Amino acid sequence: MDKQLEALQKAFDEDIAQARSEKELDQLKVRYLGRKGELTSILRQMGSLDPKERPRIGGLSNKLKVYMENAFDLRVKDLEKTHVVKGVDVSLPGRMPGKGGVHIVNQVLSEIEDIFINLGFRIVAGPEIEDDYHNFEALNIPAHHPARDMQDTFYFSEDVLLRTHTSPVQIRVMESEGLPVRIIAPGKVYRCDSDVSHIPMFHQVEGLWVEEGITFAHLKGVLYSFLHTFFGPDVPIRFRASFFPFTEPSAEVDIGCIICKGRGCRVCGNTGWIEILGSGMVDPAVYGFVDIDPESVTGFAFGLGVERVAMLKYCIDDIRLFFENDLRFLNQFS
Ligand code: FA5
Ligand code: MG
Repeated sequence: MDKQLEALQKAFDEDIAQARSEKELDQLKVRYLGRKGELTSILRQMGSLDPKERPRIGGLSNKLKVYMENAFDLRVKDLEKTHVVKGVDVSLPGRMPGKGGVHIVNQVLSEIEDIFINLGFRIVAGPEIEDDYHNFEALNIPAHHPARDMQDTFYFSEDVLLRTHTSPVQIRVMESEGLPVRIIAPGKVYRCDSDVSHIPMFHQVEGLWVEEGITFAHLKGVLYSFLHTFFGPDVPIRFRASFFPFTEPSAEVDIGCIICKGRGCRVCGNTGWIEILGSGMVDPAVYGFVDIDPESVTGFAFGLGVERVAMLKYCIDDIRLFFENDLRFLNQFS
């Protein structure tokens, strides 16, 4: 009987070491511990033993039973850690979560910020929900002024609106910080506008440099320097005289249309040029709103369309693609 138990334990050890799944373990359990199992049939022979031997053999058999049960438990835990359990092969490679990327507009925004930081500008932010005073009034655009029609505005109430440009940040910075200022203010702006080159929410980067002795030459120098770094030295650039109530003189800057190479297409409205920014020397009237003596300083400002320059840089022929969230489009830039 001792030998039988010994041989049984040896066979059991080999079998259990080879079990590769929970199913195989279940089969082994039946084979060794089941009602017709090997250990059970040994226990059944107890009756034929010498009564003096019975307690000892009974003890050994029970020990072996406990040993087997523990071995099953351990092996299940082992398999859970390393291999196949409950029909799931945990050794298979998992389904990885998709890898995200920085949105193309944010990539371009960072690139623009870096260039201006290198030119000595500091980044500031302003609110997207603005009041009429900062968005219009203090920028020399009084109520009922026809210039308000230049930007179709989303209003919350008569006095509260979604900012239509980043220019109110000029006012906020001059109000709260002393001179000199040399800042850029990137952010979202909103207008009731939509076609291949216009969207209702887009990004602008405002620039403002006010200090003694600043001239239009500084404005051109800074903008040329930015555009050559961003687009490369050969990009066609055009300064076009324009009007903004808050700058005098004013100019808009166009870049040769990259989509049609200047021949004319629907993106550039057949002109061969795409407008990317408005700019000018800060109008003396604006200084009056922020308690700065217009005789003491001069300065320039500009407002750049981020999606517009991104379109030109990456040859994107419809501005609406940026915000349709089509992964086939976005993945090209991740
Ligand atoms: C302005 O918003 C002025 N605040 C710019 C400025 C700042 C002038 C400082 C002088 C001094 P404008 O409306 O032209 O100007 O817009 C500036 C740029 O934003 C445009 O050149 C264009 O690149 C971009 N833009 C305008 N509207 C849209 C739109 N609906 N969708 C996408 N980009 C637009
Ligand atoms: Mg314009």
